[in-house]
Amino acid sequence: RLVNATAMVKAAHENKYAIGHFNINNLEWTKAILEAAQVSNTPVILGTSEGAIKYMGGPITVVGMVNGLLEELNISVPVALHLDHGQSIEMAKKCILAGYSSIMFDGSHLPYEENLAKTKEILIFANEHEVSVEAEIGSIGGEEDGVVGNGELGDPIQAAEISKTGIAMLAAGIGNIHGKYPEWWTGLSFDTLKDLQAACNMPMVLHGGSGIPQDQVIKAISLGISKINVNTELQLAFRDATRKYIEAGKDLDDASKGFDPRKLLNPGYQALKETFNELTGWFGCQGKA
Ligand code: G3H
Ligand code: ZN
Repeated sequence: RLVNATAMVKAAHENKYAIGHFNINNLEWTKAILEAAQVSNTPVILGTSEGAIKYMGGPITVVGMVNGLLEELNISVPVALHLDHGQSIEMAKKCILAGYSSIMFDGSHLPYEENLAKTKEILIFANEHEVSVEAEIGSIGGEEDGVVGNGELGDPIQAAEISKTGIAMLAAGIGNIHGKYPEWWTGLSFDTLKDLQAACNMPMVLHGGSGIPQDQVIKAISLGISKINVNTELQLAFRDATRKYIEAGKDLDDASKGFDPRKLLNPGYQALKETFNELTGWFGCQGKA
């Protein structure tokens, strides 16, 4: 059974580790992450962008797939299914009604007062359904599935205020960027993170978790990051493994049926598990289920 993310991120915050939020796209992604989490006894958050939800058919399909796997793969570690960068109250409600256990309302593109008001509004509905809520202040640089941000740093006064609404976790711009980090990137703004954490004293979320050097990830966790969102890193791992399979011509091997999609997708699926294991090792969340 799905659980919300509140207890997971709270325990992570108290004990200075971070829960991995991994974005899923399809059955292979979901199965790889759930199986790897179960083997390493790791609590996990499955994230779906609005684009990924649409790709998979809709929130009911996603919930059905995840719940089916939880049951039939005997997954006993805590798993939350989370709407990533929800752009509207309507979408958040739709996901909650479909059975999501956690949602992000990303009002970072709105004026702050409106972001705060809408976050409060969705919290009422989410609380009725025991669903955890993530809010965002400032913004994440770059682009993810059509969500574009200018990388504005989070404001500690806003962090203090929004933290009192009852949200479970807070995302903020701290110099993080979605997608591949550009050449000119100089690293996370730890001064901003320190100020924000002092102001809100609650689990904070690091978006753009792909491609941040390990020492910066570890420092960010020590300063209050309790959930790390990873998408691009999984995509690159899947791409590389699939490319290797095709470049080796294995898909053309008719004798071994290398064209069977279950074989064609298998190297990428294995690579997703390896990436999960490596990153959750950095995050310190293995064995915390
Ligand atoms: O919300 C999802 C993440 O912030 C993923 O970012 O693709 O840079 O890992 P990423
Ligand atoms: Zn993000």
